[in-house]
Amino acid sequence: MATMESLIGLVNRIQRACTVLGDHGGDSALPTLWEALPSVAVVGGQSSGKSSVLESIVGRDFLPRGSGIVTRRPLVLQLHKTEQGLEEYAEFLHLPKKKFTDFAMVRKEIQEETDRMTGRSKQISPIPIHLSIYSPNGKVDVLPFYQAPVVNLTLIDLPGLTKVAVEGQPESIVQDIEIMVRSYVEKPNCVILAITPANQDIATSDAIKLAREVDPTGDRTFGVLTKLDLMDKGTNALDVLEGRAYRLQHPWVGIVNRSQSDINKNVDMIAARRREREFFANSPDYGHLASKMGSEYLAKLLSKHLEAVIKARLPGILSLINKSIDEIETELDYLGRPVAIDAGAQLYTILELCRAFERIFKEHLDGGRPGGDR
Ligand code: GDP
Ligand code: NA
Ligand code: MG
Repeated sequence: MATMESLIGLVNRIQRACTVLGDHGGDSALPTLWEALPSVAVVGGQSSGKSSVLESIVGRDFLPRGSGIVTRRPLVLQLHKTEQGLEEYAEFLHLPKKKFTDFAMVRKEIQEETDRMTGRSKQISPIPIHLSIYSPNGKVDVLPFYQAPVVNLTLIDLPGLTKVAVEGQPESIVQDIEIMVRSYVEKPNCVILAITPANQDIATSDAIKLAREVDPTGDRTFGVLTKLDLMDKGTNALDVLEGRAYRLQHPWVGIVNRSQSDINKNVDMIAARRREREFFANSPDYGHLASKMGSEYLAKLLSKHLEAVIKARLPGILSLINKSIDEIETELDYLGRPVAIDAGAQLYTILELCRAFERIFKEHLDGGRPGGDR
């Protein structure tokens, strides 16, 4: 397992180095490498609870949430596990070297950086904001993902799909959003969290409609039913949750996020999670499903899925890395080694990381357990 973790850790560092490198990696195998590891994206209608779900998977309050169009640029979030005892912090790609230890400031910066690109408007921009969160080992109480072996992950928050342009938005916005969302979820490495509010008919779910188009077999789609607490009295969502209304490969997971009034009252993550657990445990309708409902269960389910996907992909990643090593060496020869300029230094870092991956992978194979088995 330690090997799996270090391999995944290395690929994540390579990915991050590639992000910093930007276009310089353009013609090599590096962009393909970026796509070899799974990412997780939330998809759904506006205000269906996408940002809320992502936050509770991460276990930190840092995303702008609320009614109307709040998420107006893609947010690409990478989670990194650091050594025990270190301080937890967040860092934006556009603000290198600035460490955020207060997550309320992270939210503020996301809002401000969104506005910098779009103005204080209801407009959107396809240019992503890149954010990394570094959390030490051992912070298992509030970070579900960190309880699982797969830790360094990419999660993507996206603007909601809409049906009409509202005041201040160009007519093209409905299509612009769909194109943007599609560009993320059509990639075969993208695990889709199809967020659907329970107080709305499943047949009208934008999330399911798009997910079915880009992932017809449903291998990488997880149905997430939010707002179970907001259903009309006398109705329930058992038809969906038990797979009768719309069957997916993976089981549906029901969720209760914080309401707008909870947000206004600053109800924290731990309290919200406890209330969610109580909701399911005490519900006459969902009590029998309680162990397979809620944000924590969703995070565990996802972790298990991602671990399996990554294990299956490691051999393919190795060959991509070998290809990258060759290409980077050629590129470095061309630039002239040692290189002072950033791109060269960055390529050199990537090269070192790739070599480390190759070495650990080989050692692992020699250990006689190919594919990264426990
Ligand atoms: P997004 O637009 O899809 O990212 O949705 P947000 O996460 O920003 O949530 C939109 C609004 O719905 C906010 O006011 C949330 O408080 C509220 N909301 C989201 N999920 C739930 C839920 O499960 N129950 C309740 N009561 N409100 C929710
Ligand atoms: Na919203
Ligand atoms: Mg949002």
